[in-house]
Amino acid sequence: MAEELAAEARKKLYLETVGCQMNMLDSEIVAAKLRSEGYELTDDVEAADAVFYNTCSVRQHAEDKIYSALGRVRKLKSRNPDLAVGVLGCMAQKDQAEILKRAPHVDLVVGPGQLDRVPELLAAVKSGGGKAMAVSKARRDGTLESIAQSFTVYDPDREPSLRPTPFQAYIRVMMGCDKFCTYCVVPSVRGPEQSRSPEAILTEAQMLVDQGVREITLLGQTVNSYEKKGQDGRTWRLSDVLNAVQGTPGIDRVRFVTNFPNDMTDDLLQAVRDFPGISRSIHVPAQSGCDVILKRMKRMYSVAQYDEMLARTRETIPGVAISSDFIVGFCGEDEASFERTMRLVERARFKNSFIFKYSTRQGTKADSLYPDDVPEDEKKRRNNALLALQTRISLEDNEQLVGRRFDVLVEGPSRSTTRREGWGGQEQLMGRTLCDRIMVFEGDERWVGRFVPVRVEAVSAVTLFGRVENPVEPA
Ligand code: 5AD
Ligand code: SF4
Repeated sequence: MAEELAAEARKKLYLETVGCQMNMLDSEIVAAKLRSEGYELTDDVEAADAVFYNTCSVRQHAEDKIYSALGRVRKLKSRNPDLAVGVLGCMAQKDQAEILKRAPHVDLVVGPGQLDRVPELLAAVKSGGGKAMAVSKARRDGTLESIAQSFTVYDPDREPSLRPTPFQAYIRVMMGCDKFCTYCVVPSVRGPEQSRSPEAILTEAQMLVDQGVREITLLGQTVNSYEKKGQDGRTWRLSDVLNAVQGTPGIDRVRFVTNFPNDMTDDLLQAVRDFPGISRSIHVPAQSGCDVILKRMKRMYSVAQYDEMLARTRETIPGVAISSDFIVGFCGEDEASFERTMRLVERARFKNSFIFKYSTRQGTKADSLYPDDVPEDEKKRRNNALLALQTRISLEDNEQLVGRRFDVLVEGPSRSTTRREGWGGQEQLMGRTLCDRIMVFEGDERWVGRFVPVRVEAVSAVTLFGRVENPVEPA
Protein backbone atom coordinates (compact mmCIF):
# COMPACT_ATOMS: atom_id res chain seq x y z
CA MET A 1 0.00 0.00 0.00
CA ALA A 2 2.77 2.38 1.00
CA GLU A 3 4.57 1.45 -2.19
CA GLU A 4 1.47 2.15 -4.26
CA LEU A 5 1.14 5.55 -2.68
CA ALA A 6 4.81 6.27 -3.31
CA ALA A 7 4.39 5.29 -6.95
CA GLU A 8 1.37 7.54 -7.29
CA ALA A 9 3.19 10.39 -5.63
CA ARG A 10 5.95 10.32 -8.26
CA LYS A 11 5.60 13.21 -10.65
CA LYS A 12 5.44 12.51 -14.37
CA LEU A 13 7.79 13.94 -16.98
CA TYR A 14 6.98 13.90 -20.70
CA LEU A 15 10.26 14.53 -22.55
CA GLU A 16 10.33 14.71 -26.34
CA THR A 17 13.67 14.88 -28.12
CA VAL A 18 14.32 16.03 -31.66
CA GLY A 19 17.54 16.49 -33.59
CA CYS A 20 20.90 14.80 -33.29
CA GLN A 21 22.38 12.12 -31.04
CA MET A 22 23.86 14.85 -28.84
CA ASN A 23 20.29 15.81 -27.93
CA MET A 24 19.36 12.22 -27.15
CA LEU A 25 22.29 12.08 -24.76
CA ASP A 26 21.35 15.42 -23.18
CA SER A 27 17.83 14.07 -22.62
CA GLU A 28 19.21 10.99 -20.86
CA ILE A 29 21.09 13.25 -18.48
CA VAL A 30 18.15 15.61 -17.85
CA ALA A 31 15.79 12.67 -17.25
CA ALA A 32 18.23 11.14 -14.76
CA LYS A 33 18.60 14.44 -12.91
CA LEU A 34 14.85 14.82 -12.66
CA ARG A 35 14.43 11.19 -11.61
CA SER A 36 16.41 11.99 -8.50
CA GLU A 37 13.94 14.85 -7.91
CA GLY A 38 11.03 12.40 -7.93
CA TYR A 39 10.03 12.50 -11.62
CA GLU A 40 9.45 9.43 -13.74
CA LEU A 41 9.09 9.38 -17.50
CA THR A 42 5.71 9.04 -19.18
CA ASP A 43 4.73 8.64 -22.86
CA ASP A 44 1.37 10.23 -22.16
CA VAL A 45 1.60 13.99 -22.53
CA GLU A 46 -1.88 14.39 -21.00
CA ALA A 47 -0.78 12.68 -17.76
CA ALA A 48 2.37 14.77 -17.32
CA ASP A 49 3.25 17.23 -14.56
CA ALA A 50 6.07 18.59 -16.72
CA VAL A 51 6.27 18.65 -20.53
CA PHE A 52 9.74 19.28 -21.96
CA TYR A 53 10.93 19.54 -25.52
CA ASN A 54 14.63 19.11 -26.17
CA THR A 55 14.97 21.01 -29.41
CA CYS A 56 17.04 21.42 -32.58
CA SER A 57 17.78 24.59 -34.55
CA VAL A 58 19.73 23.23 -37.49
CA ARG A 59 16.80 23.70 -39.89
CA GLN A 60 13.63 25.79 -39.76
CA HIS A 61 11.44 22.72 -40.14
CA ALA A 62 12.58 21.32 -36.76
CA GLU A 63 11.70 24.61 -35.08
CA ASP A 64 8.28 24.82 -36.73
CA LYS A 65 7.43 21.38 -35.38
CA ILE A 66 8.24 22.48 -31.83
CA TYR A 67 6.10 25.61 -32.11
CA SER A 68 3.14 23.52 -33.25
CA ALA A 69 3.71 21.03 -30.41
CA LEU A 70 3.78 23.99 -28.01
CA GLY A 71 0.48 25.16 -29.53
CA ARG A 72 -1.09 21.81 -28.65
CA VAL A 73 0.31 21.91 -25.11
CA ARG A 74 -1.29 25.30 -24.55
CA LYS A 75 -4.71 23.57 -24.20
CA LEU A 76 -3.32 21.16 -21.58
CA LYS A 77 -1.85 24.04 -19.67
CA SER A 78 -5.15 25.95 -19.64
CA ARG A 79 -6.80 22.85 -18.12
CA ASN A 80 -3.96 22.30 -15.68
CA PRO A 81 -2.19 25.55 -14.72
CA ASP A 82 0.28 23.56 -12.56
CA LEU A 83 1.72 21.92 -15.65
CA ALA A 84 5.32 23.06 -16.23
CA VAL A 85 6.25 23.51 -19.89
CA GLY A 86 9.91 23.67 -20.87
CA VAL A 87 11.89 24.30 -24.04
CA LEU A 88 15.43 22.92 -23.73
CA GLY A 89 18.40 22.73 -26.05
CA CYS A 90 19.41 24.60 -29.19
CA MET A 91 16.19 26.51 -29.86
CA ALA A 92 16.19 27.75 -26.28
CA GLN A 93 19.69 29.12 -26.75
CA LYS A 94 18.96 30.58 -30.18
CA ASP A 95 15.53 32.14 -29.64
CA GLN A 96 15.56 32.82 -25.89
CA ALA A 97 12.90 35.44 -25.05
CA GLU A 98 11.32 35.02 -28.49
CA ILE A 99 9.97 31.65 -27.33
CA LEU A 100 8.17 33.25 -24.39
CA LYS A 101 6.71 35.84 -26.76
CA ARG A 102 5.42 33.28 -29.25
CA ALA A 103 4.39 30.74 -26.59
CA PRO A 104 3.68 32.64 -23.36
CA HIS A 105 2.58 29.46 -21.59
CA VAL A 106 6.19 28.20 -21.63
CA ASP A 107 7.71 28.29 -18.13
CA LEU A 108 11.33 27.25 -18.71
CA VAL A 109 13.82 28.07 -21.45
CA VAL A 110 17.15 26.31 -20.94
CA GLY A 111 20.07 26.26 -23.41
CA PRO A 112 22.26 23.21 -24.02
CA GLY A 113 25.09 24.61 -21.89
CA GLN A 114 22.85 25.05 -18.83
CA LEU A 115 20.98 21.77 -18.66
CA ASP A 116 22.46 20.80 -15.30
CA ARG A 117 20.33 23.62 -13.85
CA VAL A 118 17.01 22.15 -15.00
CA PRO A 119 16.06 20.59 -11.61
CA GLU A 120 16.72 23.82 -9.71
CA LEU A 121 14.83 25.91 -12.31
CA LEU A 122 11.90 23.51 -12.44
CA ALA A 123 11.62 23.55 -8.65
CA ALA A 124 11.56 27.37 -8.72
CA VAL A 125 8.81 27.39 -11.37
CA LYS A 126 6.76 24.79 -9.47
CA SER A 127 6.98 26.79 -6.26
CA GLY A 128 5.46 29.80 -7.99
CA GLY A 129 8.69 31.56 -8.89
CA GLY A 130 7.47 32.64 -12.35
CA LYS A 131 9.33 31.97 -15.58
CA ALA A 132 12.90 30.66 -15.65
CA MET A 133 15.45 31.22 -18.36
CA ALA A 134 19.04 29.95 -18.44
CA VAL A 135 21.09 30.46 -21.56
CA SER A 136 24.79 30.92 -22.18
CA LYS A 137 25.85 34.53 -22.69
CA ALA A 138 27.36 35.79 -25.91
CA ARG A 139 30.81 37.37 -25.79
CA ARG A 140 31.60 40.60 -27.63
CA ASP A 141 32.84 38.77 -30.69
CA GLY A 142 29.53 36.97 -30.92
CA THR A 143 30.82 33.59 -29.75
CA LEU A 144 29.33 32.01 -26.68
CA GLU A 145 30.90 32.14 -23.24
CA SER A 146 32.58 28.93 -22.26
CA ILE A 147 30.16 26.30 -21.09
CA ALA A 148 32.92 24.26 -19.53
CA GLN A 149 31.46 24.53 -16.09
CA SER A 150 28.15 22.95 -16.96
CA PHE A 151 30.04 20.43 -18.98
CA THR A 152 32.26 19.21 -16.17
CA VAL A 153 29.51 19.15 -13.60
CA TYR A 154 27.43 16.91 -15.83
CA ASP A 155 26.52 13.97 -13.71
CA PRO A 156 27.47 10.75 -15.47
CA ASP A 157 24.19 9.40 -14.11
CA ARG A 158 21.96 8.63 -17.09
CA GLU A 159 18.46 7.40 -17.79
CA PRO A 160 19.06 4.02 -19.46
CA SER A 161 15.47 3.73 -20.74
CA LEU A 162 16.16 6.55 -23.21
CA ARG A 163 19.03 4.68 -24.86
CA PRO A 164 18.57 3.22 -28.32
CA THR A 165 18.74 -0.25 -26.70
CA PRO A 166 19.91 -1.40 -23.25
CA PHE A 167 23.33 -2.40 -24.65
CA GLN A 168 24.02 0.68 -26.82
CA ALA A 169 24.96 4.08 -25.42
CA TYR A 170 26.52 7.40 -26.35
CA ILE A 171 29.49 9.13 -24.76
CA ARG A 172 30.22 12.75 -25.48
CA VAL A 173 33.91 13.24 -26.15
CA MET A 174 33.69 16.86 -27.15
CA MET A 175 31.17 19.66 -27.14
CA GLY A 176 30.60 22.63 -29.39
CA CYS A 177 32.25 23.51 -32.67
CA ASP A 178 34.92 25.96 -33.84
CA LYS A 179 34.49 25.54 -37.59
CA PHE A 180 31.83 28.19 -38.21
CA CYS A 181 30.55 26.89 -41.54
CA THR A 182 28.58 29.86 -42.84
CA TYR A 183 25.19 28.06 -42.99
CA CYS A 184 25.37 26.49 -39.56
CA VAL A 185 23.85 27.63 -36.30
CA VAL A 186 25.66 25.05 -34.14
CA PRO A 187 28.73 27.10 -33.08
CA SER A 188 26.48 29.94 -31.92
CA VAL A 189 24.14 27.71 -29.89
CA ARG A 190 26.49 25.01 -28.63
CA GLY A 191 29.51 27.23 -28.05
CA PRO A 192 33.22 26.70 -28.65
CA GLU A 193 34.83 23.33 -29.12
CA GLN A 194 35.86 21.65 -25.85
CA SER A 195 37.27 18.18 -25.57
CA ARG A 196 36.60 16.15 -22.45
CA SER A 197 39.40 14.57 -20.48
CA PRO A 198 40.26 11.01 -21.52
CA GLU A 199 39.88 9.96 -17.87
CA ALA A 200 36.26 11.22 -17.77
CA ILE A 201 35.49 9.39 -21.02
CA LEU A 202 37.00 6.13 -19.83
CA THR A 203 35.27 6.35 -16.44
CA GLU A 204 31.97 6.82 -18.24
CA ALA A 205 32.72 3.87 -20.54
CA GLN A 206 33.36 1.67 -17.50
CA MET A 207 30.13 2.85 -15.87
CA LEU A 208 28.22 1.97 -19.02
CA VAL A 209 29.84 -1.48 -19.21
CA ASP A 210 28.76 -2.06 -15.62
CA GLN A 211 25.20 -1.26 -16.75
CA GLY A 212 25.36 -3.88 -19.51
CA VAL A 213 26.34 -1.65 -22.45
CA ARG A 214 28.36 -3.41 -25.18
CA GLU A 215 28.40 -0.81 -27.96
CA ILE A 216 29.46 2.79 -27.44
CA THR A 217 29.15 5.68 -29.88
CA LEU A 218 31.56 8.54 -29.24
CA LEU A 219 29.89 11.85 -30.05
CA GLY A 220 31.18 15.23 -31.13
CA GLN A 221 30.15 17.82 -33.74
CA THR A 222 33.62 17.30 -35.23
CA VAL A 223 34.59 14.23 -33.24
CA ASN A 224 37.85 13.71 -35.12
CA SER A 225 39.16 17.14 -34.01
CA TYR A 226 39.32 15.72 -30.46
CA GLU A 227 42.50 16.61 -28.64
CA LYS A 228 43.12 16.73 -24.89
CA LYS A 229 46.00 16.32 -22.51
CA GLY A 230 45.51 13.37 -20.18
CA GLN A 231 46.75 12.98 -16.63
CA ASP A 232 49.60 10.92 -18.11
CA GLY A 233 50.90 14.14 -19.70
CA ARG A 234 50.27 12.81 -23.22
CA THR A 235 48.06 14.56 -25.74
CA TRP A 236 45.22 12.19 -26.56
CA ARG A 237 43.69 12.19 -30.02
CA LEU A 238 40.53 10.45 -31.14
CA SER A 239 42.57 7.42 -32.23
CA ASP A 240 43.89 7.05 -28.65
CA VAL A 241 40.41 7.35 -27.16
CA LEU A 242 38.97 4.83 -29.65
CA ASN A 243 41.76 2.42 -28.88
CA ALA A 244 41.26 2.73 -25.11
CA VAL A 245 37.46 2.42 -25.29
CA GLN A 246 37.51 -0.57 -27.62
CA GLY A 247 40.04 -2.18 -25.26
CA THR A 248 37.71 -1.81 -22.26
CA PRO A 249 36.66 -5.34 -21.27
CA GLY A 250 32.96 -5.75 -22.04
CA ILE A 251 32.95 -3.34 -25.00
CA ASP A 252 32.45 -5.12 -28.33
CA ARG A 253 32.03 -2.20 -30.66
CA VAL A 254 32.85 1.50 -30.77
CA ARG A 255 31.45 3.96 -33.29
CA PHE A 256 32.19 7.66 -33.69
CA VAL A 257 30.31 10.57 -35.30
CA THR A 258 30.58 13.16 -36.91
CA ASN A 259 33.86 13.73 -38.71
CA PHE A 260 35.25 16.84 -40.34
CA PRO A 261 37.03 16.03 -43.63
CA ASN A 262 40.21 18.01 -42.89
CA ASP A 263 40.77 16.20 -39.59
CA MET A 264 40.72 12.70 -41.04
CA THR A 265 44.28 11.98 -39.99
CA ASP A 266 46.26 8.82 -40.72
CA ASP A 267 46.47 7.80 -37.04
CA LEU A 268 42.65 7.71 -36.95
CA LEU A 269 42.38 5.70 -40.16
CA GLN A 270 45.02 3.26 -38.93
CA ALA A 271 43.17 2.82 -35.61
CA VAL A 272 39.99 1.92 -37.52
CA ARG A 273 42.00 -0.51 -39.64
CA ASP A 274 43.90 -2.14 -36.77
CA PHE A 275 41.38 -2.51 -33.94
CA PRO A 276 38.66 -5.03 -34.61
CA GLY A 277 36.23 -3.40 -32.16
CA ILE A 278 36.05 -0.11 -34.05
CA SER A 279 33.19 0.28 -36.52
CA ARG A 280 34.38 0.36 -40.13
CA SER A 281 31.86 3.00 -40.97
CA ILE A 282 32.88 6.62 -41.29
CA HIS A 283 30.47 9.51 -41.56
CA VAL A 284 32.31 12.42 -43.10
CA PRO A 285 30.01 15.09 -44.58
CA ALA A 286 31.06 16.68 -47.89
CA GLN A 287 28.10 19.16 -48.04
CA SER A 288 28.77 20.06 -51.70
CA GLY A 289 30.79 18.90 -54.70
CA CYS A 290 31.46 22.41 -56.00
CA ASP A 291 34.52 24.44 -54.97
CA VAL A 292 32.74 27.79 -55.26
CA ILE A 293 29.97 26.61 -52.94
CA LEU A 294 32.41 24.96 -50.50
CA LYS A 295 34.24 28.27 -50.28
CA ARG A 296 30.99 30.13 -49.60
CA MET A 297 30.17 27.55 -46.96
CA LYS A 298 33.67 28.10 -45.49
CA ARG A 299 34.28 24.37 -45.34
CA MET A 300 38.04 24.93 -45.71
CA TYR A 301 38.66 22.11 -48.22
CA SER A 302 38.35 21.76 -51.98
CA VAL A 303 36.60 18.96 -53.83
CA ALA A 304 40.04 17.60 -54.83
CA GLN A 305 41.08 17.50 -51.17
CA TYR A 306 37.88 15.70 -50.23
CA ASP A 307 38.49 13.18 -53.04
CA GLU A 308 42.04 12.67 -51.78
CA MET A 309 40.77 12.07 -48.23
CA LEU A 310 38.29 9.46 -49.56
CA ALA A 311 41.02 7.69 -51.52
CA ARG A 312 43.35 7.65 -48.50
CA THR A 313 40.55 6.33 -46.27
CA ARG A 314 39.70 3.52 -48.69
CA GLU A 315 43.33 2.63 -49.24
CA THR A 316 44.01 2.41 -45.51
CA ILE A 317 40.81 0.58 -44.49
CA PRO A 318 39.74 -2.08 -46.98
CA GLY A 319 35.97 -2.53 -47.04
CA VAL A 320 35.26 0.72 -45.17
CA ALA A 321 31.76 2.17 -45.58
CA ILE A 322 31.66 5.93 -45.97
CA SER A 323 28.59 8.11 -45.60
CA SER A 324 28.01 11.82 -46.09
CA ASP A 325 25.70 14.82 -45.68
CA PHE A 326 24.80 17.26 -48.44
CA ILE A 327 23.03 20.59 -48.49
CA VAL A 328 21.25 21.35 -51.76
CA GLY A 329 20.08 24.80 -52.82
CA PHE A 330 22.70 26.72 -50.82
CA CYS A 331 22.94 30.43 -51.72
CA GLY A 332 24.37 30.81 -55.22
CA GLU A 333 24.16 27.11 -56.11
CA ASP A 334 23.36 27.06 -59.82
CA GLU A 335 22.67 24.10 -62.06
CA ALA A 336 26.38 23.62 -62.85
CA SER A 337 27.30 23.66 -59.12
CA PHE A 338 24.60 21.13 -58.38
CA GLU A 339 25.82 18.91 -61.23
CA ARG A 340 29.26 18.90 -59.60
CA THR A 341 27.65 17.59 -56.40
CA MET A 342 25.89 14.88 -58.44
CA ARG A 343 29.25 13.91 -59.92
CA LEU A 344 30.88 13.71 -56.48
CA VAL A 345 28.11 11.40 -55.27
CA GLU A 346 28.47 9.33 -58.44
CA ARG A 347 32.20 8.74 -57.98
CA ALA A 348 32.37 8.61 -54.16
CA ARG A 349 29.94 5.69 -53.85
CA PHE A 350 28.85 6.53 -50.32
CA LYS A 351 27.06 3.86 -48.32
CA ASN A 352 24.37 6.47 -47.81
CA SER A 353 23.95 10.24 -47.77
CA PHE A 354 21.70 12.49 -45.73
CA ILE A 355 20.45 15.24 -48.02
CA PHE A 356 19.04 18.53 -46.75
CA LYS A 357 17.48 21.52 -48.45
CA TYR A 358 19.28 24.68 -47.39
CA SER A 359 17.41 26.47 -44.62
CA THR A 360 18.59 29.98 -43.85
CA ARG A 361 19.40 30.43 -40.14
CA GLN A 362 19.30 33.78 -38.43
CA GLY A 363 22.62 34.76 -36.92
CA THR A 364 24.74 32.81 -39.39
CA LYS A 365 27.22 34.36 -41.82
CA ALA A 366 25.36 32.97 -44.84
CA ASP A 367 22.13 34.57 -43.67
CA SER A 368 23.72 38.01 -43.48
CA LEU A 369 26.02 37.72 -46.53
CA TYR A 370 24.11 35.87 -49.23
CA PRO A 371 20.53 35.89 -50.48
CA ASP A 372 18.70 32.55 -50.13
CA ASP A 373 18.24 32.58 -53.90
CA VAL A 374 17.33 29.02 -54.89
CA PRO A 375 13.53 28.67 -55.07
CA GLU A 376 11.94 26.04 -52.81
CA ASP A 377 10.70 23.97 -55.79
CA GLU A 378 14.20 23.85 -57.20
CA LYS A 379 15.64 22.82 -53.82
CA LYS A 380 13.08 20.03 -53.74
CA ARG A 381 13.97 18.91 -57.27
CA ARG A 382 17.69 18.82 -56.49
CA ASN A 383 17.01 16.99 -53.24
CA ASN A 384 15.01 14.31 -55.09
CA ALA A 385 17.58 13.99 -57.90
CA LEU A 386 20.51 13.57 -55.50
CA LEU A 387 18.54 11.13 -53.36
CA ALA A 388 17.59 9.05 -56.42
CA LEU A 389 21.24 8.89 -57.47
CA GLN A 390 22.42 7.91 -53.97
CA THR A 391 19.67 5.27 -53.73
CA ARG A 392 20.74 3.75 -57.04
CA ILE A 393 24.37 3.59 -55.87
CA SER A 394 23.46 2.16 -52.44
CA LEU A 395 21.39 -0.55 -54.13
CA GLU A 396 24.13 -1.42 -56.64
CA ASP A 397 26.75 -1.66 -53.89
CA ASN A 398 24.49 -3.66 -51.58
CA GLU A 399 23.84 -6.13 -54.44
CA GLN A 400 27.57 -6.92 -54.40
CA LEU A 401 27.15 -8.12 -50.81
CA VAL A 402 24.70 -10.93 -51.62
CA GLY A 403 26.27 -14.22 -50.52
CA ARG A 404 28.66 -12.59 -48.03
CA ARG A 405 28.63 -13.37 -44.33
CA PHE A 406 28.69 -10.72 -41.60
CA ASP A 407 28.76 -10.72 -37.82
CA VAL A 408 25.67 -8.83 -36.78
CA LEU A 409 25.02 -7.29 -33.39
CA VAL A 410 21.32 -8.02 -32.80
CA GLU A 411 19.48 -4.86 -31.72
CA GLY A 412 15.88 -6.07 -31.45
CA PRO A 413 12.74 -6.86 -33.40
CA SER A 414 12.76 -5.41 -36.91
CA ARG A 415 10.77 -2.20 -37.17
CA SER A 416 10.37 -2.69 -40.88
CA THR A 417 6.98 -3.92 -41.96
CA THR A 418 8.30 -5.49 -45.16
CA ARG A 419 8.12 -9.18 -44.37
CA ARG A 420 9.58 -11.38 -47.03
CA GLU A 421 7.45 -14.10 -48.55
CA GLY A 422 7.97 -17.56 -47.18
CA TRP A 423 9.20 -16.51 -43.76
CA GLY A 424 7.20 -18.03 -40.99
CA GLY A 425 7.41 -18.88 -37.34
CA GLN A 426 10.32 -17.04 -35.86
CA GLU A 427 10.66 -13.41 -34.96
CA GLN A 428 12.03 -10.95 -37.51
CA LEU A 429 15.08 -9.29 -35.98
CA MET A 430 17.35 -6.44 -36.99
CA GLY A 431 20.97 -5.67 -36.26
CA ARG A 432 24.00 -3.98 -37.76
CA THR A 433 27.22 -5.12 -39.35
CA LEU A 434 30.61 -3.65 -38.39
CA CYS A 435 30.18 -1.32 -41.40
CA ASP A 436 26.90 -0.11 -39.90
CA ARG A 437 24.67 -1.76 -42.51
CA ILE A 438 21.21 -2.75 -41.33
CA MET A 439 20.51 -6.48 -41.54
CA VAL A 440 17.05 -8.03 -41.17
CA PHE A 441 16.80 -11.76 -40.51
CA GLU A 442 14.78 -14.36 -38.70
CA GLY A 443 15.81 -15.45 -35.26
CA ASP A 444 15.14 -15.76 -31.61
CA GLU A 445 14.48 -12.65 -29.56
CA ARG A 446 16.83 -14.01 -26.89
CA TRP A 447 19.69 -13.22 -29.29
CA VAL A 448 19.21 -9.49 -28.70
CA GLY A 449 22.51 -7.97 -27.55
CA ARG A 450 24.60 -10.78 -29.05
CA PHE A 451 26.57 -11.24 -32.25
CA VAL A 452 25.27 -13.72 -34.81
CA PRO A 453 26.74 -14.69 -38.21
CA VAL A 454 24.30 -13.82 -41.00
CA ARG A 455 24.63 -14.54 -44.73
CA VAL A 456 23.08 -11.97 -47.08
CA GLU A 457 20.35 -13.36 -49.36
CA ALA A 458 18.66 -10.24 -50.70
CA VAL A 459 19.05 -6.47 -50.46
CA SER A 460 17.32 -3.13 -50.82
CA ALA A 461 19.10 0.24 -50.96
CA VAL A 462 18.98 0.56 -47.17
CA THR A 463 18.65 -2.98 -45.82
CA LEU A 464 20.34 -6.36 -46.17
CA PHE A 465 18.10 -9.40 -45.71
CA GLY A 466 19.87 -12.53 -44.54
CA ARG A 467 19.76 -15.91 -42.90
CA VAL A 468 21.61 -16.90 -39.75
CA GLU A 469 24.43 -19.22 -40.74
CA ASN A 470 24.70 -21.78 -37.97
CA PRO A 471 21.80 -22.17 -35.60
CA VAL A 472 22.71 -20.06 -32.58
CA GLU A 473 21.85 -21.32 -29.14
CA PRO A 474 19.96 -18.73 -27.13
CA ALA A 475 22.08 -17.54 -24.20
N1 5AD B 1 20.29 24.10 -43.79
C1 5AD B 1 20.23 22.83 -44.21
N2 5AD B 1 21.00 21.85 -43.71
C2 5AD B 1 21.87 22.17 -42.74
N3 5AD B 1 22.76 21.43 -42.06
C3 5AD B 1 23.39 22.23 -41.17
N4 5AD B 1 22.94 23.49 -41.28
C4 5AD B 1 21.98 23.47 -42.25
C5 5AD B 1 21.15 24.48 -42.81
N5 5AD B 1 21.22 25.76 -42.42
C6 5AD B 1 22.98 20.01 -42.33
C7 5AD B 1 24.44 19.70 -42.70
C8 5AD B 1 24.95 19.01 -41.47
C9 5AD B 1 23.71 18.31 -40.97
C10 5AD B 1 23.73 17.87 -39.56
O1 5AD B 1 22.70 19.27 -41.16
O2 5AD B 1 24.46 18.84 -43.80
O3 5AD B 1 26.00 18.11 -41.76
FE1 SF4 C 1 28.08 23.13 -38.16
FE2 SF4 C 1 30.27 23.09 -39.72
FE3 SF4 C 1 30.51 22.79 -37.04
FE4 SF4 C 1 29.41 20.83 -38.50
S1 SF4 C 1 31.52 21.59 -38.67
S2 SF4 C 1 28.60 21.67 -36.55
S3 SF4 C 1 28.32 21.96 -40.09
S4 SF4 C 1 29.78 24.63 -38.13
